[in-house]
Amino acid sequence: MDVNENLLAEFEDMLNPAFPEKSGIIPEILGYGEISTTFSIPAMPDVALKRMPPFENADQIIAYKKAVCDYTSQLAEVCGIRVAEYAVYDFFNRQNEHIVYVAQPRLETATIGNHILAAASRKDLEKMISAIMEYLCRLYQFNHQNSHQASIGLDGQLSNWSFGLSGTGNASPVYFDITTPLLRVDGTEQLDTEIFLKSCPSFLVWLVRWQFLDEVLNRYHDVRMVLIDLVANFYKEGRQDLINGALSIINDFVENEKYAMDFPPLKRAEIDSYYKSDAFIWSLFLMLRRFDRFVKTKIFMQRYNFILPGAITR
Ligand SMILES: Nc1ncnc2c1ncn2[C@@H]1O[C@H](COP(=O)(O)OP(=O)(O)O)[C@@H](O)[C@H]1O
Ligand SMILES: [Mg+2]
Repeated sequence: MDVNENLLAEFEDMLNPAFPEKSGIIPEILGYGEISTTFSIPAMPDVALKRMPPFENADQIIAYKKAVCDYTSQLAEVCGIRVAEYAVYDFFNRQNEHIVYVAQPRLETATIGNHILAAASRKDLEKMISAIMEYLCRLYQFNHQNSHQASIGLDGQLSNWSFGLSGTGNASPVYFDITTPLLRVDGTEQLDTEIFLKSCPSFLVWLVRWQFLDEVLNRYHDVRMVLIDLVANFYKEGRQDLINGALSIINDFVENEKYAMDFPPLKRAEIDSYYKSDAFIWSLFLMLRRFDRFVKTKIFMQRYNFILPGAITR
């Protein structure tokens, strides 16, 4: 991966986060997550860039880098997960803000799970889910052996994995959603969630902290919930026709591995009710953030420092 740091700094100084398409160097958007946006710039077409919310001081950045590093090594060592290579860059921008970018090799769109899902056959589905189940089984065992004091969290959604191109066989998937490291040591989450609350308007911070944060983070440490979340996303991806198929692949796997992984089979009704609540949480959050951006940029004519995801269809 070839990252030109001067160019990155130049991009940052000409970036219009509120309206990225009006920046000096126009980024190509590779994908929207719930929190951040991944993009590339023309001079570095092979690199995927993720811009973090501004940090307050150097210590926060050191802690963040350590959390990402520990998290990715645990994923690899404990769960055997292939994790995408990454590098972290931090510098002060023109506004004297301490900015962090996470760079990764740009993975081919056609290999990313949700793109495969769009046209997936039952066989493709089986391949993708079985590969993820192997990893999740090891994660489950680790979390249970440590009675959740030491715990690894993971967002298993297909949009976070790159699968070997069809034809190359059974290559294990590569996990790349590492900018929100979910690692608990002695029961304490290593990620400083306050940084992420920064991208949230001040009138919402109390609401997010109180209602969403614990629940959202806990969900990723619980394999059964990770799987419900994975399957419920098939609605968002327009493949609800594959939901029952996915459930039987998962439930069969768990049944076969019942000495390693022990939880009740997933039910269709759980997927449906979860999807309704999850879609609600994130669309409400995004709607309120867009409102905040509007107030800041259009009414108060202030700088708005976050790249918000575009419209997500639900
Ligand atoms: N290294 C990469 N190469 C190509 N596309 C990527 C890469 N990383 C992320 N993306 C795209 O951006 C989307 C969001 O990135 P992700 O790392 O999952 O962040 P989030 O935490 O916002 O979900 C992905 O689903 C994918 O479509
Ligand atoms: Mg993601």
